[in-house]
Amino acid sequence: MSNKSIQYVNENSERHEQELIEILKVPSVSSDPERKADLLVMAEQLKEEMIKIGLENTQIIPTAGHPSVYAEWLGAPGKPTLLIYGHYDVQPVDPVDLWDSPPFEPVIKNGKIFARGSADDKGQIFIHLKAIEAVLAAEKELPVNVKLIFEGEEEVGSEHLTDLIKEHAELLSCDYVIISDTPMFREGFPGITYGLRGLTYLQVDIRGTDTDLHSGTFGGLVKNPIHALVDILAKMKDEDGKILIPGFYDDVLPISENEHDKLSKLPFDPKAFADGIGAPTLYGEAGFDHLERLWARPTFDVNGIWGGFQGEGAKTVIPAEAHAKVSMRLVANQDPDDIAEKFTAYAQSLAPDTVDIKVRNMHGGFGYLTDLENPGLLAGVRALEKAFGKEVDFIREGGSIPIVKVFADILKAPVLLMGYGLPDQNAHAPNENFSLYNFHKGIESIVYFLDEMGQL
Ligand code: BES
Ligand code: ZN
Repeated sequence: MSNKSIQYVNENSERHEQELIEILKVPSVSSDPERKADLLVMAEQLKEEMIKIGLENTQIIPTAGHPSVYAEWLGAPGKPTLLIYGHYDVQPVDPVDLWDSPPFEPVIKNGKIFARGSADDKGQIFIHLKAIEAVLAAEKELPVNVKLIFEGEEEVGSEHLTDLIKEHAELLSCDYVIISDTPMFREGFPGITYGLRGLTYLQVDIRGTDTDLHSGTFGGLVKNPIHALVDILAKMKDEDGKILIPGFYDDVLPISENEHDKLSKLPFDPKAFADGIGAPTLYGEAGFDHLERLWARPTFDVNGIWGGFQGEGAKTVIPAEAHAKVSMRLVANQDPDDIAEKFTAYAQSLAPDTVDIKVRNMHGGFGYLTDLENPGLLAGVRALEKAFGKEVDFIREGGSIPIVKVFADILKAPVLLMGYGLPDQNAHAPNENFSLYNFHKGIESIVYFLDEMGQL
């Protein structure tokens, strides 16, 4: 069935790389207000691409933030409808001097393309566009119906996408949601991600006094807000890595014996992992294996902490304020808002009455866990194995794609996570890169996948 399409993929691989390079030149950093126009350029460029490959009803759907781009091909009545989701926005590039080449001037080196957004997520959404292009060019029709939606706010929490999905639930209705925005577990082996962690992200603001004070004139009579803050943060976890927020673990799904066994069979070398990130040795919650800690257990982290004097030299001061950003990776079935409330109540109970404390819930989302017997997932496994010629790794991921649970709930469709990144892709970091082998094999695998789905 898909022979002609695969031939097309192979014959056009060089052009596909060139087109990917063009997409990667657009600095679509969603968190930077100065880049707003670039996000629009990116959305327009994707829309043009969708028209060019033969998709229909293409449109830019505006939101109060950055827009989403939509397109469809619905010429296979009676066949399943796939909604392919991805994001065209990227993370900021700082620290930019740590990049070996400029983040928006894509460079190919050792079979990898280096650019911000190459793996997360432009290279991965491009896989779907190029696979659809190939099948439409070679066969004049697709074996399934497809709808594509690419958003511009994933890296800043998908603030407006939930409303967009609710408002356009009919337009987006589907049998399966397909997302390629995750890494594989190891190079050369395709992976299916069946679980993602959720997230609660908060800011803590502590105020001691109206202004900074002379530490001699006032020291001894006022509580230092930085000290109050670190006292509070220190009580969030015990020495075994257990989180002490009351009720924090109430909704955590336990890891079954069966899953424990399966995860323990995936190759994981703690020494190599630690070396890879320059850590003296790894750390984690007592009583759990490495991959369980990473994928199936929740975490508490301080993302940043600031306050007081940080300039050159010394300044004898008691700062007026102290601040921290904290986040918790959650696992199914923890509710991000419930966790935010539990954190807030606990932090407030720990704060001495000598300071004022405020906790702001910034954003978050549910984790996701999918059924491994789902026929769509099994079709994905067959397609990946055919393209890569290797058995699929069944993995979970520690990262979050909060919109996944929203799709599943509103559209009542299972979500399949077929990711083509690699563990050393440097997502969110300098020298982000995407394997061109995975790019081309990825396109092939989606050609097979569309075929497999058409046969369900
Ligand atoms: N592609 C990632 C999600 C991801 C990361 C999945 C690692 C699997 C492994 C996505 O673009 C991302 O970075 N998500 C954010 C979500 C947050 C901004 C709400 C994350 O996980 O921090
Ligand atoms: Zn990301």
